[in-house]
Order: sequence, then C-alpha cells, then structure tokens
Amino acid sequence: MIRKLTFAICLVGAMSGGAVAEDKLYTVVDGFKVDANTMKGFRAWRAAACDRCHGPNQEGMVGPSLIQSLKVLTKAEFVQVVMEGRLEKGMVSFKENPQVVQNIDGLYAYLKGRSDGAITRAKVQEISSE
Ligand code: HEC
Repeated sequence: MIRKLTFAICLVGAMSGGAVAEDKLYTVVDGFKVDANTMKGFRAWRAAACDRCHGPNQEGMVGPSLIQSLKVLTKAEFVQVVMEGRLEKGMVSFKENPQVVQNIDGLYAYLKGRSDGAITRAKVQEISSE
C-alpha cells in the first residue's frame, strides 16, 4: 500500500515536470539553446557516439528510440543502463568512458529535454555562446 502510494506520487511529479520544472533539470530557449550542463550532456552524447545505435535524432536504429524510452525510464534506471549496459542485448557499458561518467546528469537532462519535446532539434548550442 505504501509502495503504491509512493509510486503514484512519483508519477504525478514526473508528469507535472515541464521544460523548466523538475528543479531545472534543463533550461532551453528557442528549442535549441541550452544551459551549460545540458550542453555538456550533448557533447558527451556526441563523443560517445550514442547516435550510432540510437540514431542522430534519438529516434532509434538498432537501439530503441530514446525519445520514447526517456518517457518511461526513471533517472536511476537511465544511469544504471548507461553505466552497466545490457551487454547481451547490444547496449554497451559506458562506465569506462570518463566523459559519459562525468556528464551523466547533463546527458540525462539533454535526452529528457529531447524526450519532453522541449529541445526541438538534436543539435544544440549553449545559451551564452552567441
Ligand atoms: C552499439 C550500439 C549502442 C550504443 C553505442 C549505445 N546504445 Fe544504448 N542501447 C543499445 C541497444 C541495442 C539497447 C536495447 C537493449 C535492450 O534491448 O534492453 C540500448 C538501450 C539503451 C537504453 C535503455 C532503453 C530502454 O528503453 O530501456 C538507454 C537509456 C540507452 N541505451 C542509452 C544510451 C546512451 C546514452 C548511449 C551513449 C552514451 C548509448 N545508449 C549507446 C545499443 C547501443
């Protein structure tokens, strides 16, 4: 009973989270200008070449669409799968990749922004870099 209740509260929390909500997971302006943390996440995405398997727009190739996955996965689940991989299913482990490890929060923020539809294109730039 208590577990069910906690789950319900989490769900409401997740659903009410908009572009700038969720304790500012990310900030985005004009759909593609993002805060520094999210920018680091994008750079890690590029450097780790996640797009090889998840597609340049995160919509899936051999790996699933992360636009869809991030609507379902919790942050903890996301971190778990990126760190440990699912080796038998073709998802590699990134725990030996310092850029991914150090920027996992930004990577989550970037992909969550894409999944939420707030970041409207895959290629982003930093807000201040104009
Ligand atoms: C060599 C191909 C490959 C690369 C590179 C890769 N992935 Fe994956 N990824 C997969 C496959 C295949 C799956 C599906 C595993 C399964 O069926 O459970 C997956 C699953 C995932 C999932 C879980 C999706 C879900 O719905 O459960 C996440 C999150 C994810 N990958 C993120 C990333 C990120 C972030 C990167 C880059 C740091 C990355 N992946 C790089 C192939 C890859």
